[in-house]
Amino acid sequence: MDLNDTLTRPDDAAETKTRKVFVKTYGCQMNVYDSQRMSDALMADGYQPTDAIEDADLVLLNTCHIRERAAEKVYSELGRIRDLKRDRAAQGHEMVVGVTGCVAQAEGDEILRRAPVVDLVVGPQTYHRLPAVVKKARAGHKVVETDYALEDKFEHLPQPQKTVVRNRGVTAFLTVQEGCDKFCTFCVVPYTRGSEISRPVAQIVAEAERLAEGGVREITLLGQNVNAWHGEGVGGREWGLGELLFRLAEIPGLERLRYTTSHPRDMDDTLIAAHRDLPALMPYLHLPVQSGSDRILKAMNRKHTADDYLRLIERIRNVRPDIAMSGDFIIGFPGESDADHEATMKLVRDVGYAQAFSFKYSPRPGTPGADMKFHVEERVKDERLQELQALLTNQLETFTQSRVGMEMDALIEKPGRQAGQIVGRSPWLQPVILDESVGRIGDIVRVKVLSAGRNSLFAEPV
Ligand code: SAH
Ligand code: SF4
Ligand code: F3S
Repeated sequence: MDLNDTLTRPDDAAETKTRKVFVKTYGCQMNVYDSQRMSDALMADGYQPTDAIEDADLVLLNTCHIRERAAEKVYSELGRIRDLKRDRAAQGHEMVVGVTGCVAQAEGDEILRRAPVVDLVVGPQTYHRLPAVVKKARAGHKVVETDYALEDKFEHLPQPQKTVVRNRGVTAFLTVQEGCDKFCTFCVVPYTRGSEISRPVAQIVAEAERLAEGGVREITLLGQNVNAWHGEGVGGREWGLGELLFRLAEIPGLERLRYTTSHPRDMDDTLIAAHRDLPALMPYLHLPVQSGSDRILKAMNRKHTADDYLRLIERIRNVRPDIAMSGDFIIGFPGESDADHEATMKLVRDVGYAQAFSFKYSPRPGTPGADMKFHVEERVKDERLQELQALLTNQLETFTQSRVGMEMDALIEKPGRQAGQIVGRSPWLQPVILDESVGRIGDIVRVKVLSAGRNSLFAEPV
């Protein structure tokens, strides 16, 4: 027990010491990062994380609102939790239930009406207030906190302790930017995460150094619009993400850097130069385009054309020929014709993706897209999605197969599913299955790929 704890709040510490928190995360990597920060904040307050929901004194669902199905999942989970809470209560245990994340922000106290099992609702901008909110909820109050906070939540959230970092492995996420000012007409993010905020350089560097000291070898910088990040660098100069990457690459022990998700309009010259000059910056870029049709791109308010996107990729490939492209696609945006869909298919063929994610358009309440005319029939969406996904699967398999025979560095990440195996990560995010004698977790080893599955590689050391 921390000495400070015993001196300043003996009763409280003794009382909360054994409480357990269960966190379930939905949605994007930013939620994964936030869930860890919330756990850290609650651990500092005496809670122990648990993987068993039935043992938990506090259950948090960190939710996603991006598509209808994502939001609905939360309500069906809350239905199950209602029964669990009742069973726990019958055994004399209290269970506090909280909803955090983007559904919390979007629906606020509506959640309490739809799911009375919920005790607290906290939006993404106020996680640093979570321990206080939980205390209030324990005292029997329903609490809803969905203000866009005036203070900087990152400054108030505890930094993970070195031991905690060690337990979490050799790769980590680090949020550098949050929120979005772009207002694509299909998207809820500007409403759920608020306007764009960049974390200051010093805060990011300090967190990256702490992660590296705790054994992290690969960091993925996160933001809804990560390449819109900007800050004040050395000598008061305005920095973009490229400059930040150059700075982070200097941190001892930090061997690999990635960033996601980037917007095509924010790929500036320095960021492209970082791909040319920084060996630590991995040759994999997630650059969503959503559609290959200029008409649809315009209706989506993406503010670039298909050709702009293709020319951008050409520039990046010129400086980093081995870069693998990843993307996101929305099928069946209102007004999408067969010709528009064909334009998307053509763009995909022109780019050649290593990996991509495709979704049927889901009208989100409050976004301009939901009120547009000419919604596409579900049956047509299904057909187009199938056609696109077949092409993308084909490209994924082609990309994976093209690694066979290649030599590459693999970062050893975790034990394999089968005894005697260990799993590494390729520069292109593929799992690399190796014999465990090859090295230890955290090592970067030179390997040669012998064969490939659908997405994973089987390799031996060279
Ligand atoms: N900031 C990123 C995207 C974040 S949301 C960007 O600008 O590209 C992640 C992905 O979810 C999007 O790229 C999009 O493909 C998908 N998505 C967002 N809203 C959607 C909606 N209403 N229906 C279907 N898919 C959606
Ligand atoms: Fe959503 Fe567009 Fe912002 Fe991405 S850029 S988060 S798709 S509004
Ligand atoms: Fe979902 Fe919110 Fe992320 S809506 S995708 S959890 S930013």
